[in-house]
Amino acid sequence: MAMEYENVRSQLRDSPKVWLITGVAGFIGSNLLEALLVLDQQVVGLDNFATGYRHNLDEVKSVVSARQWSRFSFIEGDIRNIDDCRRACDGVDYVLHQAALGSVPRSIEDPLLTNACNIDGFVNMLVAARDAGVTSFTYAASSSTYGDHPGLPKVEDEIGKPLSPYAVTKYVNELYGDVFATCYGFKSIGLRYFNVFGPRQDPDGAYAAVIPKWTASMIRGEQVLVNGDGETSRDFCYVDNAVQANILAAVADDVAKNQIYNVACSDRTSLNDLFSYLRDALAVLGVTYNQSPTYQDFREGDVRHSQADISKARRLLGYEVVYRVGDGLNRAMPWYLANQ
Ligand SMILES: NC(=O)c1ccc[n+]([C@@H]2O[C@H](COP(=O)([O-])OP(=O)(O)OC[C@H]3O[C@@H](n4cnc5c(N)ncnc54)[C@H](O)[C@@H]3O)[C@@H](O)[C@H]2O)c1
Repeated sequence: MAMEYENVRSQLRDSPKVWLITGVAGFIGSNLLEALLVLDQQVVGLDNFATGYRHNLDEVKSVVSARQWSRFSFIEGDIRNIDDCRRACDGVDYVLHQAALGSVPRSIEDPLLTNACNIDGFVNMLVAARDAGVTSFTYAASSSTYGDHPGLPKVEDEIGKPLSPYAVTKYVNELYGDVFATCYGFKSIGLRYFNVFGPRQDPDGAYAAVIPKWTASMIRGEQVLVNGDGETSRDFCYVDNAVQANILAAVADDVAKNQIYNVACSDRTSLNDLFSYLRDALAVLGVTYNQSPTYQDFREGDVRHSQADISKARRLLGYEVVYRVGDGLNRAMPWYLANQ
């Protein structure tokens, strides 16, 4: 484990803080919750269960001690409602803002709803956090902001044109983050996640991400559908790496603030390779999948290739990749098997 991260964790253990996680019942939010409770932190969570689940919270409860769980308080509320945001920010040191409607196809089908949650909700959270005088505000940005920029690996300040309403909303978050620093001196940190995966990522529904969706299909013996020729590539990032980036960002020095950081592994995995990795990881657990993938049309709004340059997060946050794709898949597969 990276030295810097270990130091931060031991400082937090010695001097616990109050954290707010929005989107706490979701995939990344619930993993942040688990990590922070294990570090004996006080955590407030906000969620409206749009895409998150009570069972994610129940699962965290089952893996932490009763004492750690007693340090968590949950607010069922909506970031589109400023009063909910203000209530959630009251007395908080560090905000980790994860609540948003994910998924490119969802945003193409319903741009109004995506806009309301991801932009109106985001500005509400900025205002509430600013007015509450929180120490830091870290938010989930997205690699979709690179849009049609052809460069690889992706460097933070070289972006292209957004390819979906979702990408627009995530870019607008960054613009608002910057403007709040200029106008109010309220400096945030945006973490551009690249295809995060791991336990508690929803395998079901029309907007499921590729790893949970394919894993569930393989376990159930169903067809695996590939969008395009399978040579589309992604920088898949195990969720514990994203948790690390959030904790480091929350406690970062002022010079590291009002910045955007890529959060990924700086690896590039094609969908065809991912198919083999998943099949092999499940085989180790006794699940055999003999079918070939079924190729279909490319999906509208998808970026062709994605790979992050992570040197900025390394340099300014002390971020280090602890779990590469293969390590992450081996850690995530037992969870998917147990939760079918
Ligand atoms: N998973 C990824 O690969 C990835 C990549 C890039 C960015 N992101 C971003 O990371 C964040 C977390 O994503 P995730 O994968 O955990 O998704 P998720 O859908 O599992 O979690 C999002 C959570 O936000 C909650 N939420 C949505 N709208 C809300 C609202 N109006 N008010 C209150 N809560 C609301 C949902 O109920 C859910 O619990 C999102 O902002 C997403 O856009 C994720």
